[in-house]
Amino acid sequence: MNRWLGRGINFGNALDALGGGSELPLDERYFDEVARAGIDTVRLPVRWSAHAEPAPPYAIDPAFFQRVDAGVRAALDRDLNVVVNVHHYHELCAAPDEHLPRFLALWQQIASHYADHCGRLCFELLNEPRGQLTAARWNAVLAQALAVVRDSNPERTVIIGSADMNDPGALPALAVPDDDHLIATVHYYAPFEFTHQGAGWVEGAEGWLGRMWGEPADENAVRDDLAEVAAWGRQQRLPLFIGEFGAFSRADMVSRARWTTFVRAEAERLGMSWAYWEFGTDFGAFDLQRSAWREPLRRALLG
Ligand code: BGC
Repeated sequence: MNRWLGRGINFGNALDALGGGSELPLDERYFDEVARAGIDTVRLPVRWSAHAEPAPPYAIDPAFFQRVDAGVRAALDRDLNVVVNVHHYHELCAAPDEHLPRFLALWQQIASHYADHCGRLCFELLNEPRGQLTAARWNAVLAQALAVVRDSNPERTVIIGSADMNDPGALPALAVPDDDHLIATVHYYAPFEFTHQGAGWVEGAEGWLGRMWGEPADENAVRDDLAEVAAWGRQQRLPLFIGEFGAFSRADMVSRARWTTFVRAEAERLGMSWAYWEFGTDFGAFDLQRSAWREPLRRALLG
């Protein structure tokens, strides 16, 4: 399955949108663009927690379910793989005890809803656990969520990531459940001061503007980071998926393209699948206004 995931892209800021920023309309033609460009996988971040009841039975809004269904169907109809996750469940990270029953109820509903779908649909349990979801706490929550998914989807590929916002450095603390259908994920944004320069949601990021990337030392740092990830994967006998990597639009395009090319090529050399963050908004490889790929980024990703 990891080989199929291959080359992917995030349809970020669509079903996960927080409001207030630029949003991606989940238009069928964007799935066409992605399939035509040679991409294998769409990662579809979904903010289920904003569309479900706050109290038992925590029912997911049927109209929202239909929007997610439309995205899943648009991908599968084009022979794309699709990764559906739970994104931006910040309340769970802030108060795991209070939100655990709701998180499990969300997965129970999502998993049974999609149980009949083909193997090209994968689940990813939680985007970027953080806060009170420390590694130890997350390991326990993850095992419970996986068990809920397995009740209805015994063989579906499930993607699991480390605590600390899927930071590669947190992989050693991840307790991998005994399960034959898992892929491990990390998010790669290093050096953060380069990839997040000027990002409005990151404190201090204005001060990083102008930072370039591409010296031999920069390349060595990425090579070392990803080699460690690969070594962990080998030791755990787990395939690896870089579920997010990308550089924000305010970084200089030459450096962005260099960094993206280098990370992508290293990932592929190490046998990892990947998904660029993201298709059409603030890290956008595709320019929605011109309805065209940003050529340096398209080339960086797809050659
Ligand atoms: C978040 C986005 C953010 C991106 C890069 C994602 O996981 O959902 O809001 O833009 O990471 O920081």
